[in-house]
Amino acid sequence: MYYGEKVCLRAYKEEDISIASKFVNDKELKKLLVTTIPFPMTYWEEEEWIKSQKSNNEGTYNFAIEDIETNKYIGGCGIQNVNWLARVATVGIMIGDKNYWGRGYGTDAMKVLINFIFNDMNINKIRLGTFSFNERAIKSYEKCGFKVEGVLKDEIFKDGKYYDEIIMSIFNNK
Ligand SMILES: CC(C)(COP(=O)(O)OP(=O)(O)OC[C@H]1O[C@@H](n2cnc3c(N)ncnc32)[C@H](O)[C@@H]1OP(=O)(O)O)[C@@H](O)C(=O)NCCC(=O)NCCS
Repeated sequence: MYYGEKVCLRAYKEEDISIASKFVNDKELKKLLVTTIPFPMTYWEEEEWIKSQKSNNEGTYNFAIEDIETNKYIGGCGIQNVNWLARVATVGIMIGDKNYWGRGYGTDAMKVLINFIFNDMNINKIRLGTFSFNERAIKSYEKCGFKVEGVLKDEIFKDGKYYDEIIMSIFNNK
């Protein structure tokens, strides 16, 4: 377990499945996340996904985010891709429990993830993508030290409209 001030990052547990499947099917949340075609996800798909999470999958790893005061599972974050030659990791985060939005829990979780990636994985650069309309996410990432690196025009299609994707990054020791 990796601790911040408000949250810890831990491995997924079986009891997270039903809550996680509610999170991923929430319409408001779906709008904020990179999905392909947003068909509803079944409980069994979520179960399969959680059961497929492993510690030995060459760098990609998903953590459950837990509120350390209540031990409640509130979301997830993870390393989606690692380029070991250039030492670049791509990350993502989702606080699924909306009661925790805008209260610093996601920012705290991202800080823990950044520390883990720089200090335990010896990665040089962390990058992520977010949607131009997700102001809370952009502000949260800026608070963690991420800077905008580029804009991918009309990269996202949501609710009948195209949106730009903002690419942000943070470097170790820069
Ligand atoms: C994005 C996310 C990780 C941010 O974490 P968080 O802990 O909620 O963020 P914070 O509470 O630290 O808020 C970040 C900043 O955004 C601001 N903010 C909060 N709600 C906002 C809103 N609705 N619109 C604009 N800004 C907002 C806050 O004022 C804060 O800045 P401040 O600390 O200077 O006041 C989290 O909200 C989340 O997971 N949301 C749902 C899924 C998602 O968007 N994932 C990211 C996909 S790229």
